Amino acid sequence: MEKKRSSFSGKIGFVLAAAGSAVGLGNLWRFPYLAARYGGGIFLLVYLILAVTFGFTLMTAEICLGRKTGLSAIGAFQKLNKKYSFIGYLAALVPIIILPYYSVIGGWVIKYFAAFISGQTQAAAKDGYFEAFIGQTGEPIIWLAVFVLATAVVVFLGVEKGIEKASKALMPLLVLLTVGIAIYSVCLPGAWDGLIYYMKPDLKHFSFTTVVAAMGQLFYSMSLAMGIMITYGSYMKKEVNLEKSVAQIEFFDTGIAFFAGMMIVPAVFVFNGGDGAAINAGPGLMFVTLPKVFDSMPLGTVVGALFFVLVLFAALTSSISLMETIVSIVQDKLHWGRKLSAIVITLFTLAVALPSSLGFGRWSGVQPLGMSFLDFFDFISNSILMPIVAFLTCIFVGFVVKPKTIIDEVKINSSFRREKLFVVMIKYIAPVCLIIILISSILNALGIITI
Ligand code: TRP
Repeated sequence: MEKKRSSFSGKIGFVLAAAGSAVGLGNLWRFPYLAARYGGGIFLLVYLILAVTFGFTLMTAEICLGRKTGLSAIGAFQKLNKKYSFIGYLAALVPIIILPYYSVIGGWVIKYFAAFISGQTQAAAKDGYFEAFIGQTGEPIIWLAVFVLATAVVVFLGVEKGIEKASKALMPLLVLLTVGIAIYSVCLPGAWDGLIYYMKPDLKHFSFTTVVAAMGQLFYSMSLAMGIMITYGSYMKKEVNLEKSVAQIEFFDTGIAFFAGMMIVPAVFVFNGGDGAAINAGPGLMFVTLPKVFDSMPLGTVVGALFFVLVLFAALTSSISLMETIVSIVQDKLHWGRKLSAIVITLFTLAVALPSSLGFGRWSGVQPLGMSFLDFFDFISNSILMPIVAFLTCIFVGFVVKPKTIIDEVKINSSFRREKLFVVMIKYIAPVCLIIILISSILNALGIITI
């Protein structure tokens, strides 16, 4: 049962909506800790190269599949070739895995907002504050539940439009604030070494893992390889210039990630020294580092509270869109009512999020594949499922429906300057690289090889 599709108004409407989905915790929380961990400047460089090749190719393909068929992922694959609808189902699994652990991080954001709004800036900036918080059993779970319920209420009541409006108004503010904090951060005494680490590619830090991590991050951050951009494409009007829109979304998403990294990575050098452990902090990096930055600035409590509430909005719009996607799949495929679907998915999300939260405390002894639960779910979605979906999408477009289908769709109302790049990427380079990445990250996780 397909709803009647409304389209985005105006030319910029589509770009804003798609960028709104793309910008979230991926840019602000995930990008900086990966950049810090996987080599700074060299990670940044690899990421940028992947964005204009892989990112461009996949985003163009997905938006075109959606706009051509007017359907979301499952329907789109099905309509073009019945045998390949399984790609749509695989893609649909990704949001189901992401939403629970996304909510854990969303909960951390609420906790830090609460800490700043109640003036506990100094306490939050102390070493060990973050570890003490996530090591507990009850508190992180409460915040995570608040985050999931806030998401669920919006989806349940169907008031996404209102939230989207609010977040569109707040997004420019978040961008400005991020850029402002980044500038402040790099001016702190001692930030220079960190800035060099973040900006200057150093081959010494390059490894295959850099590429694997950058690729997973690219998909995650741009909401690729999970059907989302197909859905967005299905709402895109034929008169919108597709090539330009793709370039704008990529530019916007990458720009925010870049400034988020600049706000956090050099500050790690300022406050914790640039040693291995501090740079390697992983998912906690933003929460360990930023409070120290805020604590060091005039009016830091206000800036910190404002920053975390804006991040919370960005995270909520993403989680709402994730839950919304899952709800509509369940509605379509299982023929459940909207409310029932929303309730079941909420309970499921809460249940699956629990181990990710407990994995930093009470259950820290249980380590699937040697990772914390959160890293494990993150690994399954970003390093396994997304490369598989991306690979299959390339094969589907390159050899089943043929690149011409996409090229014709782009050309309805736009030039296609990178047409040759697109064809070579989608047929050969992307599938080959994706398979190599997939196999090596699986072997690495199983401990068979070390990359
Ligand atoms: N791209 C989003 C971010 O950077 C996260 C995300 C992944 C997402 N999948 C999504 C957002 C689906 C909305 C819908 O945080």
